[in-house]
Amino acid sequence: MIAITGATGHLGLATIKALTAKIAPSEIVAVVRDPQKAANTLPQGVAVRQGDYNDPAALLAAFQGIETVLLISSSELETEPRIREHRNVIDAAKQAGVRHLIYTSVVNPSPESAFGASPSHFATEEYLKDSGLTYTVFRNTLYLDIIPMLVGEGTLPSGKLYSSADDGKVSYALREEIAQALANVLTSEGHDNQIYDIAPGPAYSFQDIAAGLSEATGQPVEYAPVSGEEIAASLREHQVPEPFINLLLGMSKAMKDGEFDAASSTFEKLLGSKPTDLKTYLAGVYGK
Ligand SMILES: NC(=O)c1ccc[n+]([C@@H]2O[C@H](COP(=O)([O-])OP(=O)(O)OC[C@H]3O[C@@H](n4cnc5c(N)ncnc54)[C@H](OP(=O)(O)O)[C@@H]3O)[C@@H](O)[C@H]2O)c1
Repeated sequence: MIAITGATGHLGLATIKALTAKIAPSEIVAVVRDPQKAANTLPQGVAVRQGDYNDPAALLAAFQGIETVLLISSSELETEPRIREHRNVIDAAKQAGVRHLIYTSVVNPSPESAFGASPSHFATEEYLKDSGLTYTVFRNTLYLDIIPMLVGEGTLPSGKLYSSADDGKVSYALREEIAQALANVLTSEGHDNQIYDIAPGPAYSFQDIAAGLSEATGQPVEYAPVSGEEIAASLREHQVPEPFINLLLGMSKAMKDGEFDAASSTFEKLLGSKPTDLKTYLAGVYGK
């Protein structure tokens, strides 16, 4: 039996859908914090168990009879609560007799990273490695799917793509393909105590995204470098919440520092096919 946490989120649900093409739904347990939300979204036959990352007793009950847990990292933004949540899941898995835990981390996790999620990924990886559980770590790069959020609504009418990432490059991956690679790993052997960089090549800069947008839309778009302060001021004007502004600024700084420029062939091997590239993605989203 395989349990997937965060099963009502994008990556968890996509992984469950990819899994149902490989194994019987009766072998899959969706662990969710809100069973109501799961009611009409999960494939037929997948069992639902309640388990909030802040509720050790519920997690322990949810992991009974489970051999492998996929821990989808929390959407909590604060570092310490996020680490605590992940530790609760790891502790409960161990206590319940789970053999193998797969964790979705980030490329180049570091306590010093400007990217807000990175220190908690680093701490979780360390905790998992020391837990005694067999582990596999998916060090995920940024999703291609976040590009529309980075592009924002103002870019296309203005023809300017603003960022403070300078010429920092990112090896983006499609979330659905990460889910497919997770399903492949969950249903095959040879992944014990492995750490995988989930970061296909090539890596792209904001100049590349601007060029791709120009090609996909037929309208000229050019990259406009700005400072982090200018971005923050503009987002504040649009009433964007402060934690989200911090997340975005930290992410841009980490891009500039090259933290997401981590292209390797590992992802393609785990996926079993060529990952979607930037041009194909932008054509799908913005193509005429
Ligand atoms: N690489 C990237 O570009 C990128 C982008 C965004 C996020 N991420 C990270 O990758 C994770 C998965 O991505 P995603 O797109 O699937 O994000 P998502 O759609 O926001 O899903 C996050 C999932 O975590 C669950 N969750 C959050 N707090 C929880 C708690 N206390 N107890 C139990 N479940 C909890 C959420 O439950 P509910 O459904 O009840 O809300 C949701 O199912 C995110 O959580 C985040 O850590 C990565």
